[in-house]
Amino acid sequence: MFFSDAGLLGAEAENPELRIEQNHMPMKKQNRWEDHYSRKAKKEKFPARSVYKLQEIQRKTHLIRKGDKVLDLGCAPGSWLLYVAELAGKKGEVVGVDLKPLSVNIPSGVRVYTGDILSPDEDLLLSMGKDFNVVMSDLAPVTTGNRHVDTARSFNLAQAALTIAHEVLVPGGSFVCKIFQGEDFKAFSDTVKTGFKKHKIFKPQSSRKGSREIYIIGIGKLKREA
Ligand SMILES: C[S@@+](CC[C@H](N)C(=O)[O-])C[C@H]1O[C@@H](n2cnc3c(N)ncnc32)[C@H](O)[C@@H]1O
Repeated sequence: MFFSDAGLLGAEAENPELRIEQNHMPMKKQNRWEDHYSRKAKKEKFPARSVYKLQEIQRKTHLIRKGDKVLDLGCAPGSWLLYVAELAGKKGEVVGVDLKPLSVNIPSGVRVYTGDILSPDEDLLLSMGKDFNVVMSDLAPVTTGNRHVDTARSFNLAQAALTIAHEVLVPGGSFVCKIFQGEDFKAFSDTVKTGFKKHKIFKPQSSRKGSREIYIIGIGKLKREA
């Protein structure tokens, strides 16, 4: 489902994990919404409610399969990692990278590295490995409240994720990437379109309605970038 730019909120709203009460939604309604996903995450033992966005993506696309090798860029505090480890199963391999350490214990078989996706060093790239079936990015910048700055930062992170995806995905592999809608959104979406057989734009229900974030999905990496 594609949403327009209407009803944009402040910086914290764009990064749900950092969010404070700051938007134009009636307070009661907002609290109800937040409580629902936060409570659900707590009950189901996920460290962040962002897991429900990936669940919606997975229901829609079935991107992650048993035995898959999956790279999770911007993996902290660890909700996506836990969910993906479950989907990929014992024969799968899950690797995460973030600037920050995780706040949860991860299942054996999941590898996590601390590093900067904007300037990954050789060691990090070697440790992460190659031949991934899926590369996911839920990378989000520290927001400033300035819409242009924040969307530009999000675009840079998305570009960095796409560059890595082209390096490490197997032909036919898939890419899921969060980006804040802004000036560069269409250009980024079009770039993904040229590199993959199929292309989707998805706004999860569990994503805050006023949030700028949206997910670009590329399915079936082409052998060569167009
Ligand atoms: C919305 S959170 C990801 C939540 C995660 N998907 C989960 O379910 O727990 C975004 C993450 O991107 C990370 N991040 C932002 N810039 C980064 C960078 N340059 N390199 C690595 N990680 C970065 C942040 O540290 C933050 O943990």
